[in-house]
Amino acid sequence: MWSEKEQQELDKILEKYPPDRKMSAVLPALYVVQQRKNYLDDDDIKDVAEALDVTVTHVHSVIGFYTLFRKEPTGKYMVQVCTDLPCALRGAEDFYRRLCERLEVGSHGGTTDDDLFTIESVVCIAACDKAPCMQINLEFFENLTDDQIDEVIKRLRQGESLTTVATNY
Ligand code: FES
Repeated sequence: MWSEKEQQELDKILEKYPPDRKMSAVLPALYVVQQRKNYLDDDDIKDVAEALDVTVTHVHSVIGFYTLFRKEPTGKYMVQVCTDLPCALRGAEDFYRRLCERLEVGSHGGTTDDDLFTIESVVCIAACDKAPCMQINLEFFENLTDDQIDEVIKRLRQGESLTTVATNY
C-alpha cells in the first residue's frame, strides 16, 4: 500500500512519462518503495506492478538485473566495494578483505552486528581509475585508504548524513 508521501513521489515520477508508457517508471518506483525498509518484499513488488499496470513477473525481472535492488533484509547502508579486475590491480581485493575483517562480517561480506552496514564486493561501478572505490547506497567514494573508510563508517555510526559524509571524507 502506497503511503501518501510515496504516492506523491510516484505521481511526480509519472509526470515524466506518457500515460501509455508508465511501465518505464519501474526503476524509480522500485526505488521509492525500497526506502520503506531497505529491501523489497512481495507486497512492495505487487504495489509497483499494480501502480504501473505490469505483471509481478516483469517487476521481478527488473529487480534481478540491478544490484541496487534487494530482496533480502540488509543494513541501512549498503557498502559495495568494486573488486573487479582493474580495481583489483590497484589493491581493491585486499582493501575489501581488510574492511570485512575490521567490521567482523566474514571474508565474503555480510551485515554488521548493529545492522547498519551490509558489505559486499561488486563488479565495475565506473570508477576504475580511482580504486579502491565503493558506493554506499547511491553515494560514491574514491581513492580510499583504510583510514578514510574507517572514518566514513564511524561518522555514519554517529548519525551524520550520508550526503555530508560523501562530500567530505
Ligand atoms: S573495475 Fe572497479 S570501478 Fe571499474
